[in-house]
Amino acid sequence: MFDAETFVDEAVKGIKAKVGDGKAIIACSGGVDSMVAAALAYKAIGDRLLAVYVDNGLMRKGETDEVRCIMEGRTLNHKVVDAKEQFFSALKGITDPEEKRKVIGERFIRIFEKEAKDFGAEFLVQGTIAPDWVESGIGTGKIIKSHHNVGGLPEDMKMVLVEPLRELYKGEVRKVARAVGIRSSERQPFPGPALSVRCLGEVTEESIEIVREACAIVEEEIRKASAAGMMALPWQYFAVLLPARSVGVRDGARTYGRTVVIRAVASDDGMTAKHARIPIEALETISSRITAELGDSVNRVVYDLTDKPPATIEWE
Ligand code: XMP
Repeated sequence: MFDAETFVDEAVKGIKAKVGDGKAIIACSGGVDSMVAAALAYKAIGDRLLAVYVDNGLMRKGETDEVRCIMEGRTLNHKVVDAKEQFFSALKGITDPEEKRKVIGERFIRIFEKEAKDFGAEFLVQGTIAPDWVESGIGTGKIIKSHHNVGGLPEDMKMVLVEPLRELYKGEVRKVARAVGIRSSERQPFPGPALSVRCLGEVTEESIEIVREACAIVEEEIRKASAAGMMALPWQYFAVLLPARSVGVRDGARTYGRTVVIRAVASDDGMTAKHARIPIEALETISSRITAELGDSVNRVVYDLTDKPPATIEWE
C-alpha cells in the first residue's frame, strides 16, 4: 500500500542527499506533478531552490496568471519567464508530432540552463512521473511519444536531473499532493508540450488561440454537466484542433473552416483510457458555443469515441 507520508520523508531525504550544499531550479508548469516536486524540493533545500515557470504561449486560458498567483502565495523563490516568441519561432513550419515535442523539450532546457546559470544552480528538479518515461520508451525501447521532459531532452544538457516522483503514477502523486497541501491536486492532467499537441499541423499563434478558446468551452460545459449530475467528471476533457478544412455555410455564404474534436476520457493512471460518455445535450451546447464563439475559423465539431489503446489520450 502506498503511504504518502513515508514517501514524502524518503523523497526529501533523497533530494538532500543528491543536491548536498548545491542549488537547484525547478521547472514549474503549475500542474500537480511539478507543484508536488517543488514542494518536496523546497522542504529539502529551502532558499537554495528557484521555481521557474516558462510562459511559452501554449498554456490554457488564464493559466499563467493562475500559476503566478500560486507561486506568489508561497514563500519559495520564483520567476516567470516570458518565452512566447522563442517557442512560436522554434515551432514555425514543424508539423511532425515527435519533432514538435523535441523542439519544445530543447527550448525548455535552454531556458532552464540560462536561469540555472544566473541562479548558480547545477541541478534541475522535474516533476517527471512513471508514464512519462514509460511512454518515451526508456527501458522498453518502444517509443509511443517522447514526453518533453524525458525523450524530448537534448543530449548535451548540462544540468543534473533530480526527479523525486519518477516511480509514481498520477493517483499516487495526488495522494502526495494532499499530504503536502497542494491545492492543484484535483486539477485534470495537462501535457508538458501544452496546447501544441492539441493543435495538429503547424502551431501558430492564431491556431493556439482557437484551441485555447475551444478547450475553455469544453472544460466549462463538462464541469457544468457534471455539477448538474448529468455525468461524472472525466479524468481529462479538452478540445483538439485539426488542420484539415471542410466546407460549411453561414448566413447563406460558404465557409471553409477547421474542425474541432471534443475529447473526454475516463482513466486511472493515463496508461489506458476509455472514452467518456458525454450526454448529447452537453455535446450540443459545446458544439453550438464553439461554432458561434470562434466565428468562421471553425465550422465543424466532432466527438472522439476511441479508447486508449488503440488511440492515445492526446492526439499527438
Ligand atoms: P497519452 O496522450 O500518451 O497521455 O495517452 C497520457 C497522459 O499523459 C499526458 N501527457 C503528457 N504529460 N508531458 C506530460 O507531462 C508530456 O509530454 C505528455 N504527453 C501526454 C496526457 O495529457 C495524459 O494525461
